[in-house]
Amino acid sequence: MNPAERIAELTEKLNYYNQRYYVDSVSEISDQNFDLMLKELENLETQYPDLKLLESPTHRVGGTVTKNFASVEHRYPMLSLANTYNEQELIDFDERVRKGLNGEAYEYICELKFDGISLSMTYENGIFVRGVTRGDGVRGDDITNNVKTIKTIPLKVNPKSQIANLLSFEIRGEGFLPYSSFEKMNADAEAAGEESYANARNAASGSFKLQDSAEVARRGLDAYVYQFLSDEEIFSTHEESLIALKNLGFNVSPTWQKCSDIQDVMAYIKLWDEKRFSLPLATDGIVIKLNSIAQRAELGYTAKSPRWAIAYKYKAESKPAILKAVTYQVGRTGAITPVAELDNEKRNNKGIHLSGTTVKRASLHNANEIERLGLRIGDTVFVEKGGEIIPKVTAVDLSKRDMFNTQEIVYPTNCPECGAELTRKEGEANHYCPNEKGCPPQIRGKIEHFIHRKAMNIDSLGEGKIELLYDKGLVRDVTDLYDLTYEKLFGLEKITEDEVTGKIRKIGFKEKTVQNILEGIEKSKQVPFKQVLFGIGIRYVGATVAEKLASFFKNIDNIKNADYETLRTAPEIGDKIAQSIVEYFQNDDNQIFIEKLRLAGLQFAAQDEIKEIESDQLTGKTFLYTGTFENFEREALEQKIEANGGKVVSGVSGKLDFLIVGEKPGSSKIEKAKKLNVTMISEEEFMAMLN
Ligand code: IVH
Repeated sequence: MNPAERIAELTEKLNYYNQRYYVDSVSEISDQNFDLMLKELENLETQYPDLKLLESPTHRVGGTVTKNFASVEHRYPMLSLANTYNEQELIDFDERVRKGLNGEAYEYICELKFDGISLSMTYENGIFVRGVTRGDGVRGDDITNNVKTIKTIPLKVNPKSQIANLLSFEIRGEGFLPYSSFEKMNADAEAAGEESYANARNAASGSFKLQDSAEVARRGLDAYVYQFLSDEEIFSTHEESLIALKNLGFNVSPTWQKCSDIQDVMAYIKLWDEKRFSLPLATDGIVIKLNSIAQRAELGYTAKSPRWAIAYKYKAESKPAILKAVTYQVGRTGAITPVAELDNEKRNNKGIHLSGTTVKRASLHNANEIERLGLRIGDTVFVEKGGEIIPKVTAVDLSKRDMFNTQEIVYPTNCPECGAELTRKEGEANHYCPNEKGCPPQIRGKIEHFIHRKAMNIDSLGEGKIELLYDKGLVRDVTDLYDLTYEKLFGLEKITEDEVTGKIRKIGFKEKTVQNILEGIEKSKQVPFKQVLFGIGIRYVGATVAEKLASFFKNIDNIKNADYETLRTAPEIGDKIAQSIVEYFQNDDNQIFIEKLRLAGLQFAAQDEIKEIESDQLTGKTFLYTGTFENFEREALEQKIEANGGKVVSGVSGKLDFLIVGEKPGSSKIEKAKKLNVTMISEEEFMAMLN
């Protein structure tokens, strides 16, 4: 491959990974390999400057700006840090600092490198006014309302403090989802049949970009702050700023430390190598910063990063383990996941100790992955745990392979749970068990979905209890829940093992538990129709779609009797959903299922919501808005429109009557409205329409 081809290849690949990472929150490649590729590209571009492409990822600092939220320019660009992976590179950095400072004495502050989402918080006259994502470093998304949900971010700083009277200042930090919140959220998502996140970082990223800030608040995000910026120089050292921020109530992680030389820095790195696993979030390295603000100014910046700071990345911890067996899990949808059962090299069933936890299992994803790794049972493999909660098998140690004591892995042709023949669609990586109605984990999964908070909200039941009810033959589908009695439940018992940690748990139904379960089931009979509709688990009918259907069709019979065309007239019901609903009701079993639930007393009709009505000034008119408004939050504006007889629609089309344009409107909506000749009005003009 000639240099031009290689440059083109690297550019394309890096842009792709960047896009996946920043826009989709999916990392398909390790940070280390990404940085290696980027370095190679940088070197080639320096060698052959004429070959550098316009779209080269080296032109920019990071990702791309995602739509939906207003895009705002950072007052101070959000730079990234150069990465190092070994002591020598750190010593080189220290050398550069020493030379740059011409023999002056200097100190470092070491901090942990938190693996979350970088945030910039702007304060004006001491009041929090804006929270923005990093975006591409120059412009980011205005996610003020979501950032406001973080309880550790003060909305107003102490008026007596020296920074309170500044016209404006910025605080930078890392937003994250603590492990505890992450686990809860994933358990919720799985039960709701929604995709769960691979790691807490992706979950945090997804949460910060949610449109509904109430949902964001429920997620329980947090942030550590580590930088203060203003036009005036307030602090002469970084240390001073950290102490001041801490005193002002900002969440400064207490893990930082002042280091007088690079040897001190090395000691800090060692100290936190293991200890960092006891923190509430993932850390992937440390950040070394020059303490003196004046000296920072002396060293300045390269195009991409400061010369006065550097990151040191810990290597993902990798340990050898023995692959004892491969087992196969069946999910709610029937997807099969192969799982590596692991042990240490002494084979004493204690698993291996990795990044602060005991590991006995690792996901192998699908048959392709097993093939790619070339695994055999009995192999010594390397296991790694990066940001992911679930560890992964990264490679086989072929030097330890003994052909006589290892066996080929034969992928099952039948479901390990129910025996049905597995299917695999052309082009798909996963095998599926098609026995939707008879395969135990699929049935249990459906029950878990049914009791979910957004469905029947029976929180006195959970995965373990459902398994017990299923195993004892008491519940075969959700209709059986409504036949449970005290006598049937009292005294049931079961021992279970946690899938990841292998921890043993005992579940037993004592008096109080039984009462709670029965009460929860009884209460579910009052749960509104939209939640029941979500709970019965029609394919593609998630919580939001169920809500739309319920409010449009009012009851189950109207939905059942609606044909494809009628379904399509409902707001936001597309082809796939309409098709799926029609198919669902064509099946007699499903009709019987619904009749049973109706007999049990569940709500199959919407109670009319009582909506405040102010006037009919806007009757017959459709509205859409973009940007932010002085007098209204988004929801209040929608309410105002509806209370006066208007209708809020979801996108710009030729049928739209008015686009209300606020501060920092979205450019795509404006452009489309111009093209389609939609009338655009200001907030004031909208208010005038009401009088
Ligand atoms: S300081 C000019 N301190 O790492 C650099 N960054 O690669 C200012 N990060 O985008 C950043 N922990 O999101 C700094 N203790 C820490 C950090 C930290 C994590 C992230 C941050 C930044 C990225 C830089």
